Amino acid sequence: MDVTQAVFIKSAAKAREYPVSELPEIAFAGRSNVGKSSLVNILVNRKNLVRTSSTPGRTQLINFFSVNDRLVLVDLPGYGYAKAPPEVRKQWKPMIETYLAKRDNLRGVVLILDIRRTPSDGDLEMLGWLEAWNIPAIIVLTKWDKLSKNERSRQLNLIAGEIRRDKNALFPFSALTKEGREQIWREVERQAGINV
Ligand code: GTP
Ligand code: MG
Repeated sequence: MDVTQAVFIKSAAKAREYPVSELPEIAFAGRSNVGKSSLVNILVNRKNLVRTSSTPGRTQLINFFSVNDRLVLVDLPGYGYAKAPPEVRKQWKPMIETYLAKRDNLRGVVLILDIRRTPSDGDLEMLGWLEAWNIPAIIVLTKWDKLSKNERSRQLNLIAGEIRRDKNALFPFSALTKEGREQIWREVERQAGINV
């Protein structure tokens, strides 16, 4: 996608706060600090459309962004951050579950995993929800730049086994080198049903 316009629409916690929109929507999910916001910024060619941070738990609401008036990208709050205030952690699950269950124009979820880590219980739970609601998952392995060639191959096999997917169906990505950006865009467009 040739991004000519990317704008923040709004933040929401409850379903009644979601923007009214008929555009196809793709959401980005993953554990806290995995690199969700960084991936969205790279996709839309903007350094700081979405706030990123080295402190986990930065994104605590559902953030909606419109791209070229054709597609909406949604940055979901990250899970699994042990130090988040209890009231934030308690809200997370119903907030995400409601979004996944109720958002009619949701066409797919990009689930972002850290190439260096074994998928967490939260990751597996998220995959379970996506399966249960028949929401297509695009699985991205981020921070690709942080590993050597050998380590990448080992982790790719390990993660594919843990989540029971073909390793060729996973999308490597680095926010540092932008490796994987084009492939991820193509898959996002395909799931959103645009430009095809
Ligand atoms: P929360 O909103 O807090 O859940 O985090 P997030 O998943 O949105 O992560 P964010 O994009 O804010 O990135 C977290 C940290 O990881 C930042 O310091 C990023 O610069 C760094 N980071 C993200 N992606 C990559 C990557 O591909 N490579 C490297 N080396 N660092 C990355
Ligand atoms: Mg974030």
